[in-house]
Amino acid sequence: MIDSLVDVVVGPWPSLFLLLSISYLARNYFNRGLQKYPGPFLASLTDWWRFFDVLGRRPEITHNRLHKQHGDIVRLGPNSLSFADPQALKTIYGLNKGFTKVSTSPAHSSCSNAKLYKSEFYPVIQALSKGERLPSLFSTTDEQYHAELRKCVSGAFSMTAVIQYEPAVDSLMEKFLDQTEALFVSKNAICDFAKWLQFLAFDVIGEITYGKRHGFVDQEEDIDGMIGYLGRLINYVAPVCFRITPSSPWLIQFISSQIGQIPMLDSILLKNPLILFLDRYDIKAFTFPVVAFAKARIAERFVDLASQKQPSDPFPTTTHQGDLLSTFLKAQESRPQFFHHGRVLTMAVTMAVAGFETTAISLAAVFYYLLKNPHCYEKLVAELDDAVTSGVVENRPSGLVSWAESQRLPYSDACIMEAFRLHPAIGLPLERVVPPGGAEICGELIPGGTIVGCSAWIVHRRPEIFGEDVDSFRPERWIEAGTESRRVMEGTMFQFGMGARACIGKHISLLEVYKNVPSFLRRFEVCGFSVSFPSFGLVVVVVVTTRLRSRC
Ligand code: HEM
Repeated sequence: MIDSLVDVVVGPWPSLFLLLSISYLARNYFNRGLQKYPGPFLASLTDWWRFFDVLGRRPEITHNRLHKQHGDIVRLGPNSLSFADPQALKTIYGLNKGFTKVSTSPAHSSCSNAKLYKSEFYPVIQALSKGERLPSLFSTTDEQYHAELRKCVSGAFSMTAVIQYEPAVDSLMEKFLDQTEALFVSKNAICDFAKWLQFLAFDVIGEITYGKRHGFVDQEEDIDGMIGYLGRLINYVAPVCFRITPSSPWLIQFISSQIGQIPMLDSILLKNPLILFLDRYDIKAFTFPVVAFAKARIAERFVDLASQKQPSDPFPTTTHQGDLLSTFLKAQESRPQFFHHGRVLTMAVTMAVAGFETTAISLAAVFYYLLKNPHCYEKLVAELDDAVTSGVVENRPSGLVSWAESQRLPYSDACIMEAFRLHPAIGLPLERVVPPGGAEICGELIPGGTIVGCSAWIVHRRPEIFGEDVDSFRPERWIEAGTESRRVMEGTMFQFGMGARACIGKHISLLEVYKNVPSFLRRFEVCGFSVSFPSFGLVVVVVVTTRLRSRC
């Protein structure tokens, strides 16, 4: 009796479950006809393949191997394709050339004239404030909103505007060099260089955004745990190859590392209704420290504006006239309806989220490759010494090199370009969604709704563009290239993205990297180092530990 009851209740379920699972996997496999593109079989069945690949922390190595094995198009998920051919950059990210706004109606869209939108990967990085998402310039998938927002602020990020920040960056860099001397050189102490560069990058962003540095370099500590917090956030999203300390609990690493690969998980984990509800009522545990910091700075600014006096900061600062916050507030005055308070806040938060770790990684990468290639290091130092002797670079006691001077140091430029090429900060393809009518990419008609993307780690290693020795750090390739080859090489560089969604903070980073590398090497000699990759660290992070000696 009981047996037959169990048979009735349990009987059909296992078979039904099996049938449903097989149908689900088969539907994924044949999704949009993408089965014709090669790739790992498991990737064609489920996005969990991507999830576990990113969990392995070296997705760019997997992608490189897969492209070598299968060619220019690889299927990385039931609905996603990775392209290796640099021609794809123009189609996927290019600034229109006949592309128009996307039409949601397939009847009105065609494969040649629609724009590719960012995928659902991006909203995972959105911060929360009062239970509301803060869609930013970086994370929004709404192209119209993006275009309007970018128009409001883009003037503040041109090279001409960014150059105005140089005196502020100089004062901070001088402090950074002096602190390096005091904390590491004079004590002959070991320097966790990658972390030290993170402190610098965060302070530079603070200085440029608020005319006030956070104090990371002055205090030699992660103020309010902001760097730690942003590390966890970006690790959660996993667009950036990132460091996570091996000591972080395994479960946290596991849960938090690859949500961007299956964005739906974000609505269950960090942005579920309970968390949104608690955040709305300012439950402290869910407040994003970077948002809290930005709110405090904006509030201070309003007080300053009201009292028309300069604030009393604990650290020396520049004036507020030229910082990004004052530009955002001016934009707010001219378009108060659109660029309201929440959006000013979002812009300020985005500066830290998008700008600090990418710059710190890129700086660390330059030093990493120089230390790994001593002949390049020596050649660069010789170039600097000659430049000082010949007056190309002024002999300042601080060792500082100005932006204009840095532009007259060809070998330094070549080393930086080569580090950007071999070690772009972002380690995954920048995903876009093909519009409903489909798109022709590299001669293939890709169905609408497919996620497509290119990874800088792949396109930067194309031998037909960069030469046969693409895996070697050889700065000379940038000097030896003729004008046309150099133009093509530069046009293929994808570390800052491309097109309408390209990095708006590029010039800020270039200012920092181009000044910092020669300034640091003028002032210090790196006389011992070790480089390691934490076992659970994402690849781009270079953990460089150094001993330093003064050169002056
Ligand atoms: C070396 C340093 C940097 C690298 C490698 C880098 C890389 C990138 C890349 C690849 C994108 C495009 C993402 C995509 O298309 O999906 C991007 C966008 C962006 N970056 Fe950067 N970035 C750097 C520094 C900065 C800095 C310093 C800031 C701000 C102060 C910044 C702010 C942004 C913003 C706001 C966007 C979104 C732009 C838009 O969609 O209009 N970045 N960055």
